[in-house]
Amino acid sequence: MPDYERTVIINAGDESDEQTERLLVEAADALRKGELVAFPTETVYGLGANAFLDEAVAEVYRVKGRPQDNPLIVHLADFEDLEKVALNVDDRAIKLFRKFSPGPLTLVLRRHPDIPPRVSAGRDTVAVRFPEHSLTQKLLRLAKIPVVAPSANLSGKSSPTRAWHVQKDMEYKIPYIIDGGSCKVGLESTVLDLSGDLPTILRPGAITAEMIEAELGVPVRDSFSPDSDGKAPKAPGMKYKHYSPRAKVYILPVNPSEQAEVWETMKRFKGKVGLFINAELTDDMKSRLQCVQQCQTNVLIEFYENGAEGASAGLFDFFRRMDEENAIAVFIQAEEERGKGTAYMNRLKKAAIDENFP
Ligand code: TXA
Ligand code: MG
Repeated sequence: MPDYERTVIINAGDESDEQTERLLVEAADALRKGELVAFPTETVYGLGANAFLDEAVAEVYRVKGRPQDNPLIVHLADFEDLEKVALNVDDRAIKLFRKFSPGPLTLVLRRHPDIPPRVSAGRDTVAVRFPEHSLTQKLLRLAKIPVVAPSANLSGKSSPTRAWHVQKDMEYKIPYIIDGGSCKVGLESTVLDLSGDLPTILRPGAITAEMIEAELGVPVRDSFSPDSDGKAPKAPGMKYKHYSPRAKVYILPVNPSEQAEVWETMKRFKGKVGLFINAELTDDMKSRLQCVQQCQTNVLIEFYENGAEGASAGLFDFFRRMDEENAIAVFIQAEEERGKGTAYMNRLKKAAIDENFP
């Protein structure tokens, strides 16, 4: 049963357009009253709800099919509103938000009692971030409330980075989707836990450990890499299998000299396969690619530019398009696992985990 007869897509090609303005006001009203609105951010699209209303927050979990133990991020447009959602905001948080917000950084702080416990799945902390997209900032200012927003996908699917991804998962389930074009970062925000003494990255993103360390002047630990000490708390959401297309995911190693086996595997597929690859091909890679195309393999290729950043911006869209194409396997090029490549490789490795061997 659909929850709504139609989902209004607010197509904001021209932000000054009166019609857009009117629809944004309507969407902000709906949001304030407890309905759900999907909106663009620089990272991925979010599924927004009024953070002060427990029923609205419950609705987010229901519509997404999200496990109840996975807390949500509160989104704000203005710095002054921080004290309405978090307690005892310390100098570290202020320094980091000043430097990196609006932008892809989420901080885990002490939860304000006005924020219902359901937002944090019962924890006494709350995750907060200031998204960068101008339409979303406008929406938040019109709504005049803090807004919880997980990524606007159904649980288990990859995060949406284009409005059509959201439409696929949310049409008839929510009243409004704001189309703000392609998300420029393409991977979810960095989640940094500041609720204890040691700043800990719970989820890697475009704001890297190095960038945070440079700002705070103290080391930052992480809880997601295999060599982390295992004692650090993980983001509850990191334990779920995410980000997967239906096709089997193979990783093409960074180093061309280690790629031979994966190219051979690609050649053995007789149906449709996807290849997501850095546009800077070595001669060896060019000839391998030609060779695959001469076999009966039907390869759908997308070249990305600009290394790990370009790869991050396009990965989830590539997964979704390969689902639409019913590809049976996808081959995704790895990037060096440092700097911006850390978040990209984190998502890619999760996508490549075989269901049968978690
Ligand atoms: O870029 C983003 O962060 C996007 C956009 C829409 O803002 N949102 C997003 O939300 O990725 P979601 O719900 O898909 O992921 C939130 C992550 C999860 O891993 C969750 O466990 C963690 O943040 N998280 C939220 N609140 C937390 C808390 N209080 N303590 C620890 N982890 C928390
Ligand atoms: Mg998510």
